[in-house]
Amino acid sequence: MSEKIKVMLSEEELAGRIKELGAEISKDYEGEEIFLVGILKGAAFFATELAKRITVPVIIDFMSTSSYGAGTASSGEVRITKELDLDMTGKNVLIAEDIIDSGNTLSYLLQYFKDKGAKSVRLATMLDKPDRREVDVKVDYNGFTIPDEFVVGYGLDYDQRYRNLPYIGIVEFD
Ligand code: IMP
Ligand code: MG
Repeated sequence: MSEKIKVMLSEEELAGRIKELGAEISKDYEGEEIFLVGILKGAAFFATELAKRITVPVIIDFMSTSSYGAGTASSGEVRITKELDLDMTGKNVLIAEDIIDSGNTLSYLLQYFKDKGAKSVRLATMLDKPDRREVDVKVDYNGFTIPDEFVVGYGLDYDQRYRNLPYIGIVEFD
């Protein structure tokens, strides 16, 4: 079996949109400091690019949650597999996620940060796939809404591959 990747969102489109999100976020958080939490591994690329476009002070940390394993379907169960290094108590947590699919990961994390005493919790995602939502989550900043396709690149993987593609593509199996 071989796979082909069809470009869905180019490097330029992604860069342009992330710049816009950074400007919007910087305006909304004027006079505040952001505690940006990237969700590994998928959101590593988005989180760092977004951070570069934010002009208010930013602290960056990463955490990791259990995800899909080798398949392409959500298990529904969320576990934290790597905790934050820094203390987020009293901070303006901004979660940077690669994609919202079922919403399970994000609804879990939003509650988790509130319980841990964040001053505020908001969510920025590079991609939103609303067709597959199982749990309602409020998305504060969304890069692109995409149809129900399995995508790779810019941090997103298929069985750990393709994360390094500079664009977002659809995997075509043949
Ligand atoms: P959720 O909990 O179902 O919203 O899952 C979100 C996570 O599933 C994302 O952070 C990704 O790691 C993974 N995921 C969901 N859709 C895709 C996709 O199309 N390609 C690659 N990974 C995906
Ligand atoms: Mg992820």
